[in-house]
Amino acid sequence: MEIAVVGGGSMGSNHVRALSRLDEVHVAGVVDVDLQRAQALADRHGTSAFASVEDLLTCCTPGRDLHGCVVATPTLSHLPIASQLIEAGVAVLVEKPAAASAAEAQELGRLSESYGVPMMVGHIERFNPVVRELAGADFEGPTHIDIRRVGPFTPRIHDDVVVDLMIHDLDIVRFLTGSNVVDVQAVGKPVLSEVCDLAVALLTLESGTTVSLMASRLGQKKQRQLDLTFEDHFVRCDLLHQSVLVQRGQQGGLTTEGFGFQQTMNEEIRYLENRAEPLVSELSAFVATIRSGDTPPVTIADGVEALRQVERVRAVIGKAIDSGVGTGPLG
Ligand SMILES: NC(=O)c1ccc[n+]([C@@H]2O[C@H](COP(=O)([O-])OP(=O)(O)OC[C@H]3O[C@@H](n4cnc5c(N)ncnc54)[C@H](O)[C@@H]3O)[C@@H](O)[C@H]2O)c1
Repeated sequence: MEIAVVGGGSMGSNHVRALSRLDEVHVAGVVDVDLQRAQALADRHGTSAFASVEDLLTCCTPGRDLHGCVVATPTLSHLPIASQLIEAGVAVLVEKPAAASAAEAQELGRLSESYGVPMMVGHIERFNPVVRELAGADFEGPTHIDIRRVGPFTPRIHDDVVVDLMIHDLDIVRFLTGSNVVDVQAVGKPVLSEVCDLAVALLTLESGTTVSLMASRLGQKKQRQLDLTFEDHFVRCDLLHQSVLVQRGQQGGLTTEGFGFQQTMNEEIRYLENRAEPLVSELSAFVATIRSGDTPPVTIADGVEALRQVERVRAVIGKAIDSGVGTGPLG
């Protein structure tokens, strides 16, 4: 199967590398407005470079030597680039966020439906073995979910931290709980850039589960921690190192001396059967979707919903900033 990648930057390079690991895939080409960048990446993987999607479509015939495209360009260009590919009949895997707004993402959904062209969104955490493990586990609904996603500041990223980082966790929460958000409280602050570099949200779900999310690019190194609190146990997950630790408390009752309670703790580290690289799993799922014509595991409707949640959190942060709440001492 012939798959091209549009955008040869940080994420696009990862896609080309991961696609090259799939036996059934040949990288049809790399497209980047910076042709030198596209050429350097294409040379490393034995494929062709193009300066635009038009050039790619002139050289490759959809359905014959171009079956799908990954769009890994800056978010503002997702709508025009993905539209052009869908209209040409090429299946699209668009990086997260699906588009610059929920309305734009909906537009992509309408297009892919009317052209009958498969479209998937790169919410990569859906393919994280930890998230898969949690989705398949027989846990009863958690009373609280806490996710912290921290990374270093990257000047080339212009999106705010809600759409850049927190969107992953908004999607994970929806995927794991299947419950709607009924209340949002949030604060955020621009610190190193013009947009929010730190955001904290407190959500209440219809199920009653509460959720705290912290996304920050003011850290020194990457951290991706997900904790689930249940009535009688606690689950700590590391999305980066792919580990799951379950802690179960045991009430001891009265001691032999007849006073006090003792509490012991059982800890078990769940064995993850599949520690595959999430990006490779995501791309395999995209290839399978093109082959089968089935609904992809992450649909454009999922991308729209994630962006709606982003917009809700942003609106609450906007109000907080306007009224001076949570902005000091650096904001
Ligand atoms: N899934 C994830 O975890 C994850 C991680 C990082 C980035 N992303 C997403 O990937 C996308 C790209 O981010 P990045 O960090 O790779 O950015 P980047 O700046 O490193 O790379 C973007 C590349 O696109 C090229 N480009 C810009 N406009 C173009 C156009 N019209 N046609 C062709 N090429 C064009 C640029 O020259 C650049 O090489 C963003 O939407 C971002 O949100 C997702």
